[in-house]
Amino acid sequence: MSDSHNSKPWQGRFTEATDAFVEQFTASIGFDQRLYAHDIRGSIAHARMLGHTGILTSKECQSIIEGLQQLQLDIESGKINWSVALEDIHMNIESLLTQRIGDAGKKLHTGRSRNDQIATDIRLYMRDQIDSILSQLTRLMQGLIELAEREAATIMPGFTHLQVAQPITFGHHMMAWFEMLQRDYGRLTDCRKRMNQLPLGAAALAGTSYPIDRQFTADALGFDNPCDNSLDAVSDRDFAIEFCSAAALIMTHLSRFAEELVLWTSAQFDFIDLPDRFCTGSSIMPQKKNPDVPELVRGKSGRVFGNLFSLLTLMKGQPLAYNKDNQEDKEPLFDSVDTIHDSLMAFADMIPALTTRADNMRAAALQGFSTATDLADYLVRKGLAFRDAHEVVGRAVRLGVDSKRDLSEMELSELQSFHSSIEADVFEVLTLEGSVNARNHLGGTAPEQVRAAVVRARQVLKQYRLA
Ligand code: ARG
Repeated sequence: MSDSHNSKPWQGRFTEATDAFVEQFTASIGFDQRLYAHDIRGSIAHARMLGHTGILTSKECQSIIEGLQQLQLDIESGKINWSVALEDIHMNIESLLTQRIGDAGKKLHTGRSRNDQIATDIRLYMRDQIDSILSQLTRLMQGLIELAEREAATIMPGFTHLQVAQPITFGHHMMAWFEMLQRDYGRLTDCRKRMNQLPLGAAALAGTSYPIDRQFTADALGFDNPCDNSLDAVSDRDFAIEFCSAAALIMTHLSRFAEELVLWTSAQFDFIDLPDRFCTGSSIMPQKKNPDVPELVRGKSGRVFGNLFSLLTLMKGQPLAYNKDNQEDKEPLFDSVDTIHDSLMAFADMIPALTTRADNMRAAALQGFSTATDLADYLVRKGLAFRDAHEVVGRAVRLGVDSKRDLSEMELSELQSFHSSIEADVFEVLTLEGSVNARNHLGGTAPEQVRAAVVRARQVLKQYRLA
C-alpha cells in the first residue's frame, strides 16, 4: 500500500496536515478495499442517474462510467496501489478516477455523500455474499439428503443426555440437520430481502438539493425500493446485525453437528469414518487421525458469536445519523461472512463423503435397553395404563441390569413374571427394526418416513432453485 500524500477531498477547511498516526488510525482502506467492485457498481448507477436527470451531461456521465470500468480492470489486474492518505475505498476510487478522466471525475460525488455511499456498498456486497453462502448451504443440504436416503434404514442409538434412549435411523438423524439448515436458509433470505433497499439519495443525512431520481438508481442496482427516510438510511446497520445473528445460529448448528462427528469418529463410538482428506495426523502419536475439520468449525463458532456482539455494541447508543463508529462494522461483518462461507463449504464437501459403521451403531443400539419404551407401549396395547406399564418395564430393566441382558434376551417366562399379558409376539416389538418401524408417522424415525422426508426435502431444494 502506498502512503503517498495524495490530497484529501475535504482538505479545504483545514489549516494543518493530518497527524501521521491519526491518518493511519482513521483509515479503513486496509479492509474496505474488498468493497471496490460494489463501490464501482454503485458509482456507475449513481452516474447514470445523474446523466438521466440532466444533473450531468451525457458526455460527463459516459466518461465517468468508462473511467470506472477501466479502473476496475486495473484493480483486478493488480495495477493499483491504495493510499492510506485517502482514507477509504470511496476517496481512493474517486481520486484515481479524477487522475484518469480529469474534471468529470470531480462531478461524480454530486448529490451524494460517503455516508449513503458506504451504506449502499455494504448492502450490495452483502447481497452477493448471502447468495454465495446460500449456495454452500444448499450444497450441504443436498449432501444430507443423499446421505439420509442411503442410510434411511441404518439403525443407530438415539440419545438423550448422551445416554442411549431409543433406536433411531441414521437417515432420520441426518434429516434433523436438514431441518435446522432449512430454517437457516429462511433466515438468510429474510435478511437479504429486508436489506434490499437503496440508501443512495440520503446523501450525508438529510437528502440532497439536486433533482435526483432515486427510483432510477434503485432499479439500476436491483433494489426493491429506495429507503424511505434519509436519517435511517445512512445510520442503521441493523441489516448487518441481522446477518451476523443468522450467521451465529448457523455456527451453533454446525458446532453441534461437528461435536457429533467428533464423538462418532472416536474409538469409543466408532459410528462413522471421515475420509483421510478431511483429517490430520499427530506429530508425535503415529496412530492418530484427528477430526480437525469438525473441531475447527466448532471452534470458529466463537468468533462468529463475538462478531454479533461487536456489532450490537457498536450500534447501541449511537445518536442519529451517521457516526464514524460505523466504520467499525466491516471487520466483524467480513469475518462472519468468510467464516460461515468456509465452514459451510467444508461441511458440504465432507458430509457426502462420510461412511457409516452400521455394525457398531447397531451394537450400541442394542445396549442401554433402547426398546424399553416399546415394551411399555406393547403393554398399553394389552390394556394397561401407560404409567403402570412404565412401572412394569422398569422392573424388567432392573433384572436386565443385574443379569447383564437386554430385554430381548430374556425368556418369555421371565418377561411374563413381570406381567401376565405378555405373549410370544412381544419379541417383535423388542427388536430394533420393530422399534423404528413402529414410529411410522410424519416426523417419526421409521425408514419409510425418512424416505418421505427425503422426497419433501428434494422439493424444498427445487423451490430454492426456482426462487
Ligand atoms: N469509511 C467510512 C465508513 O466505513 C465511510 C463513510 C465516511 N463518512 C464520513 N462522514 N466520514 O463508514
